[in-house]
Amino acid sequence: MATIPQALHLGAAYYPEHWPEDRWPEDFRLMHEAGFNVVRLGEFAWSTMQPEANTFRFGWLERAVDLLAAHGIVSVLGTPTAAPPAWLVQQHPDLMAVDELGRRVQFGNRCHYCVNSPEMHDATRRIVTAMAQRFGDNPHVIGWQLDNEYNRVCFCDRCQGAFQRFLREKYAALDALNEAWTTRYWSQTYSDWSQIPIPIGRHNPALLLNFQQFITHSYHRLQHLQIGLLREYVPDHIWITHNFMGWFPGYDHYKLAEELDLVSWDWYVGTGYHDYLNSGAVHDLTRGFKRQNFWLIETQPGHVNWSTVNNSLNKWEAQAMAWHAVAHGADAILYWQWRSALGGQEQYHGTLVDQSGQPRPFFREAQQIGKAFRKVSELLAGSTVPADVALLNDYASRWSIDWQPHHEDFDYVAHLTHYYRPLAARNASRAVVSADTPLDGYRLVIAPALLILDDGRAAALEQFVRQGGHLVLTIRTGMKDRHNALLPSRQPGPLRAGAGVEVEDYYALLEPISIEGDDRVGQSRQWAERLRILDEKSVQVWARYGRANGWLDHHPAVTAHPFGKGIVYYVGAYLDDESQQALLDRIMKAAGVEPILFTPPGVEACLRQRPDGVALYFLVNHAAAPATVSLPWPAHDRLQDRTVQGELQLEAYGVSVLTRV
Ligand code: GLA
Ligand code: ZN
Repeated sequence: MATIPQALHLGAAYYPEHWPEDRWPEDFRLMHEAGFNVVRLGEFAWSTMQPEANTFRFGWLERAVDLLAAHGIVSVLGTPTAAPPAWLVQQHPDLMAVDELGRRVQFGNRCHYCVNSPEMHDATRRIVTAMAQRFGDNPHVIGWQLDNEYNRVCFCDRCQGAFQRFLREKYAALDALNEAWTTRYWSQTYSDWSQIPIPIGRHNPALLLNFQQFITHSYHRLQHLQIGLLREYVPDHIWITHNFMGWFPGYDHYKLAEELDLVSWDWYVGTGYHDYLNSGAVHDLTRGFKRQNFWLIETQPGHVNWSTVNNSLNKWEAQAMAWHAVAHGADAILYWQWRSALGGQEQYHGTLVDQSGQPRPFFREAQQIGKAFRKVSELLAGSTVPADVALLNDYASRWSIDWQPHHEDFDYVAHLTHYYRPLAARNASRAVVSADTPLDGYRLVIAPALLILDDGRAAALEQFVRQGGHLVLTIRTGMKDRHNALLPSRQPGPLRAGAGVEVEDYYALLEPISIEGDDRVGQSRQWAERLRILDEKSVQVWARYGRANGWLDHHPAVTAHPFGKGIVYYVGAYLDDESQQALLDRIMKAAGVEPILFTPPGVEACLRQRPDGVALYFLVNHAAAPATVSLPWPAHDRLQDRTVQGELQLEAYGVSVLTRV
């Protein structure tokens, strides 16, 4: 079992290979001065580690790791497989991926490999084994990162063959595949596995879904290979991670996270400023991949180089962001990157130390964060984020909707976030978890556009409600099976009895339409479902459509149905923001979900719970102006080390970590 360090870590990505060795001591001294205790290195250094097929050079990396340790800084090593070097690619040109148009990817960027290339797998075996042999027992290496931001999709013939074999293993008989995929439609019936294409553009929905699952499977294979190679030499207590990219849709993150000891992610704002009601959802998503704390292994020091306008974060904004991440379960923050390399593709990216080797103004902010981290690191050790509310996330449902949005503005993540924001605005404790996660412990479960609903999922949800849980079903919930075929029943499929309603029809909307609730008039945009009441006796209608397209007029739009000891809500509309807040407030009240604390807009309150039961309250002011929070109880402010009572003042982007006294 890997031991995940409990202390808070702060650091950066550092590339010793970019600099003469006699500069390192100065960099490490500055890191120490910033309060850093971790550095991530190695993840793109393949050509330096293995300059040619039979030459490995790790001395420089070992010296960097050791010198860092002498400055009190531990190392996370990245396997460099996201950057296969030129000599390797020259030896095996078809190690390179092929794009949708059949063109081989050009050398000179990164993630250019075909994930199923046997030559890539062989080369991975050699470099990862060599690294593991050299660093597996290095006491200063506390963890490993595999590759970097898996993302490439390859369309080469070999991938097509592998996809066909994947399908053969899954379906065993072609008849079964033809049946599940409705291939008689447009004469797609396959009489041989070799006829099945890799989908390009619009395609059979089942083929699309299976190809996406094949991508997950392909990265899973490469990841599994790397983990196995590392584990030959890396002791079990050392953790292995991969740096995911938040809502990136390319594969099923739950599947890839299973084998990792720790999940980490890379958070960039790009253009503009962070919106904590949205970014909280991404932290919670990442925490939900394994339902445990995570690392923010890359984040933006000031600005990026790849967006439309690479504006800098405001002064102290990164402070609020760092604590926001910690409050949502991050145990480490690493900036990307330490120093601007003189060449290479990312010359203009934000850093802590500039091209001249001197700290940028941002350095002082990071140092401040480092100081504060040290104050509460021990206090936070082992604490985790509890949740009353779970939002269910499902990649297959998301992909299916992405391929057939039916309304060009309909976006799965935006819709999920539309349910997340009202919870976040009220400081409800919440999580974003896989739709296949056990649901015990939650009071309220929301299944936003959980399109794919088989009997297993439905049974778990029904059981949750029978035992007293509150369940929100939304538009586009309960429509398809695991092959991406329509269920031969009305929405919400197997949950119709629980919901007490079914969907008679769904309508993509050109214009918003009005909705009349018990106490307010609002709107539905993009989408509306006409609900038919099945259980006349007990379904409560919370809102109806106003005059719309004739089909929807005066039909139920939002319902609540007592079922077992709980309630199932069906939200057939995509409500305007205010109505959505009012609806969620009413549901939270019914479900007994209380705010962690009441805060003014712009200030969030979060909770982490220590193993000994002590509750740690985080107040983060995400606004550029001071704010005041009224505390219901006297507290110990752990950062300022003082007792506070009544009104608590927070500076612009200010933070408090409180325990009750
Ligand atoms: C990604 C990569 C990093 C770096 C940053 C720049 O997250 O993982 O190597 O390129 O983007 O923002
Ligand atoms: Zn390929």
